[in-house]
Amino acid sequence: MIQSVSPVNCLNGTLHLPPDKSIAQRAALFSLLAEQRSTISNYPLADDPVTALRCVEQLGARVEHKGSVVTVDGVGRQNICPPHQKIDCGNSGTVMRMLSGIIAGSGVPATLTGDPSLSSRPMKRIMDPLVKMGAVVESSAGGYPPLQIHRTEPFRPITFPLPVPSAQLKSCVLLAGLFGDSPTRVIESVCSRNHTEMMLRLPVKQEQQNHIIESSRAQVIPPQNLEIPGDFSAAAFWLVAASICKGSDMFLPATGVNPTRCAALHILRRMGANIGITNERNSGSEPLADIRVRYAPLKAVDIGPAEIPNAIDELPVLAVAMAFARGESRISGAEELCFKESDRLAAMEQMLTKAGVPVLSQKDGLIVTGDPDRRPLAGTFESRHDHRIAMSAAILSLCAEQVSEIHHAEAAAVSYPGFWEDLVSMSQF
Ligand code: S3P
Repeated sequence: MIQSVSPVNCLNGTLHLPPDKSIAQRAALFSLLAEQRSTISNYPLADDPVTALRCVEQLGARVEHKGSVVTVDGVGRQNICPPHQKIDCGNSGTVMRMLSGIIAGSGVPATLTGDPSLSSRPMKRIMDPLVKMGAVVESSAGGYPPLQIHRTEPFRPITFPLPVPSAQLKSCVLLAGLFGDSPTRVIESVCSRNHTEMMLRLPVKQEQQNHIIESSRAQVIPPQNLEIPGDFSAAAFWLVAASICKGSDMFLPATGVNPTRCAALHILRRMGANIGITNERNSGSEPLADIRVRYAPLKAVDIGPAEIPNAIDELPVLAVAMAFARGESRISGAEELCFKESDRLAAMEQMLTKAGVPVLSQKDGLIVTGDPDRRPLAGTFESRHDHRIAMSAAILSLCAEQVSEIHHAEAAAVSYPGFWEDLVSMSQF
């Protein structure tokens, strides 16, 4: 699909964001492991969360959808069914990596596949610890999906210092650890999103700079009865859009503001953004709040390695914000961006260059020279089948001189199926 995006005067209104994909996928996967029924409200209909439900069904869970409420009757750790067919994880790295932990821990043999984008994402990072835990993980593609997983040896708990600050890797190892008689320990020195440990109520210890998270068979798996908050990663597109389009004023109620997810909020505020947070509350273990964002002129910012994991999915749209921020902005320590749904460093360099924004690509980041009065060149932008690149290109195009085109714009549905409609309904021409 080719989507045209017209330049706007400003963005105005109240927007109900799609439910958080990261939390929803976990709720689905953890419900499989619970022995009671889970009732998940405000479940998203985006591609990745729907994939997660399909996968747990293949492993024996009973899933029922009534509007946006999903009930999942889990089977417990002992009764996971060997799937009759390959498990298709679609576009979702979270589903593939987390499910691999569950499959490897349970010892149920299964093959996990994915779409072309997922099939080019590195899996060696999860294969190594799972093999140490006694699983056999075979990849005919040399460390890329499909993965064939089974177990011939008894389960071995491990202590695992995370070699990359990845919540998917952390979750994979902890989920496998749930099948061990003694604790598996994951040590993280740079804090990544903590939904897994919060939703499974895993014990977390702080030792100097490190978080040590434990899982074992002794851990009772709680049913996942929660209402999924609005997705902060979706909110980030509007935070940037309203900050760069003069006269904008947007209200985003019930948005997830877990501190391990919303570094982009602090980064944008450092840039001078006018963002107000009110009505802070909780949904289950997850904090949420209402967010109001109004246009404000931005200035350049540096984003370094310590902040990257908590802003990882927002970096593409933050690079768009940088194009409108006075001075030279810099992202460093972000090599993980090369291994997302597309190579997002390359994608952002190409997009900004096409729009006439001076950008220098580094091996671990970008340097962007911005200007609040910039009118980017309108153009044809390619999503690379990556939802966050498609939506970042749309936000960039809002301030362009003429109409732009986004190719493969349907990719947005992976996390935000109503994005293009929301863009039109918020736009004032
Ligand atoms: C996710 C973690 C992040 C993020 C991804 C979702 C998760 O990946 O980029 O979109 O749900 O745990 P990494 O943890 O591998 O960085």
